[in-house]
Amino acid sequence: MKEGQVLEFPSSGMLVAALAARISELLREGIDQRGQASLAVSGGSTPVPLFARLAEMDLPWDRVTVSLVDERWVEPQDPDSNEHLVRTRLLRHKAAAARFIPMKTPDATALQGEEACALAQLEAPRPYDCLLLGMGNDGHTASLFPGAANLDTAVDLNSGRICMAIRPPSAPHERMTLTLPAILASRQLFLHLQGEEKKKVLALAQAAGDARQMPIRYVLRQGTTPVTVYWSP
Ligand code: 6PG
Repeated sequence: MKEGQVLEFPSSGMLVAALAARISELLREGIDQRGQASLAVSGGSTPVPLFARLAEMDLPWDRVTVSLVDERWVEPQDPDSNEHLVRTRLLRHKAAAARFIPMKTPDATALQGEEACALAQLEAPRPYDCLLLGMGNDGHTASLFPGAANLDTAVDLNSGRICMAIRPPSAPHERMTLTLPAILASRQLFLHLQGEEKKKVLALAQAAGDARQMPIRYVLRQGTTPVTVYWSP
């Protein structure tokens, strides 16, 4: 299948089947080429059925490292934690054998945890074999939020940084996010969207305009890493 396009599916079930199959193909290729593979995932509600599907897939999961694209700085048991989501929805059944790299450290703030978090990320096979993004209705992706004070640094391709603490002006919890260069350090990016509202937001993001107002534009406008959008109603 050609990457770099918008794929529309008639139902969430069909999308999930196709995306899970594609991810599993990429992970197998990664294992064939490097002996191990890496999958970085987003939180939020959209990927939940995909996680359930992936968890049941026959893959050499003991050779796969799963990590996060972003995290809310709450305890890992908190229902708002992406680690909690991934542990309870993805790292089960067959996928329970995968290695997981959390973002949350014992540090009180994400800012204090930046260095430890970046070091931990280096343990995943990089570039990631595939990285899964979502998008908010305000055009944020990962935790690259419009209006965040340090957004410019987080999207600077030459920053040399992997993780950054972010305080979203419009959402709860201090966050840790992969920076734009760390997100682009993937063989393949998937943007997983569900619903008419997200389709409208995508159309807006694809139109001309300031990327700082809709940070997903940084991902859509770059030319180094293929991005495929998976959409269903
Ligand atoms: C997070 C995310 C975030 C998410 C979007 C979409 O942890 O919040 O990684 O970037 O992907 O906010 O969220 P929904 O899937 O819930 O719409």
